[in-house]
Amino acid sequence: MADGAFAKRVVAWQRTHGRNDLPWQNTQDPYRVWLSEIMLQQTQVVTVRNYFTRFIARFPNVASLAQASLDDVLGLWSGLGYYSRARNLHCCAQQVMELHGGAFPASAEVLETLPGIGRSTAAAIASLCFGEGVAILDANVKRVVTRVLGFDADLAQGVHVRALWDAATELLPVGKDAASAMPRYTQGMMDLGATVCLPKKPQCEICPVREDCVATKAGDPQRYPVRTRTLKRSSQSIWLLWAQSGDGAVWLDKRPTPGVWAGLHCLPLFDSEDALKLAVPRTLQSTLHALPVFTHVLTHKDLYLHVWRLDLADPSAAWDAGRWVAGTDWPAQGLPAPIRKLLQGSAAT
Ligand code: ADE
Repeated sequence: MADGAFAKRVVAWQRTHGRNDLPWQNTQDPYRVWLSEIMLQQTQVVTVRNYFTRFIARFPNVASLAQASLDDVLGLWSGLGYYSRARNLHCCAQQVMELHGGAFPASAEVLETLPGIGRSTAAAIASLCFGEGVAILDANVKRVVTRVLGFDADLAQGVHVRALWDAATELLPVGKDAASAMPRYTQGMMDLGATVCLPKKPQCEICPVREDCVATKAGDPQRYPVRTRTLKRSSQSIWLLWAQSGDGAVWLDKRPTPGVWAGLHCLPLFDSEDALKLAVPRTLQSTLHALPVFTHVLTHKDLYLHVWRLDLADPSAAWDAGRWVAGTDWPAQGLPAPIRKLLQGSAAT
């Protein structure tokens, strides 16, 4: 298949059946493409749309993002999760300004040296914006490529992942029009993975590359990709003190880096019920009460949140770290998603 026929089919299909009107498309501005790729790394297109539009309105170019405070960036990112992406984003914008004169590097090799940009994201930016002939290999595209090639080596092993990168590179467009075909080819591979070559219900009957596909011919596309090692999940309990005053102000403290929710504003967090109670003055203990425990699912662990509420008439109490944040101000802060939900739930009642 190194004759480019596979790539031609992907490109032709993308033109008529792919996604062509997303807010980060129809541009070769690497700032926009980079921002969208980072947002899309762990978040669905439907959610990213609104965040992307808001982000661009506030920070229209890499210079404005580099100048912003990290707090402002985290505030705009709030609700998207995986906040290390936002911290890397900010750091990357500053490096683009300081090390690259404000222009994103035009090759995947150099892009990959920037914070938050891995091999696949670097290839996406370089191919979509600059037509470089480099393969992407995110989770969706891994599925497409392993199925097409019948690649059944275990992707838990790095050596097999490297072989898959080589195989994906063999599938790229070739010939004199290769560079101009690259943006649509890259987008086409993403679109195939996201809309046709689905994990559990692949739509082989409408797939433009079914004639090329080893897995479809064998009748077992769901077998791919093969990966033996699954993530071990752990769980952790944390205790949160939700102090709120009569006027709606809440006490928030900025989480240290590194750690859970690094850099975000959060209710004071403790690792036991005793530690939380010790932080509440004896005179206020009688107003302290526990809310039902709820679970927040992170990538590698389940967090059990034990929230204790402390209602105060006025914001006179104070703790070692943090500050009172008015009811009109906390919604604009970078808050962990479950904390935002918790506080919003109270605001709604
Ligand atoms: N997922 C990752 N990158 C994407 C893009 N450019 N369009 C749609 N989904 C994506």
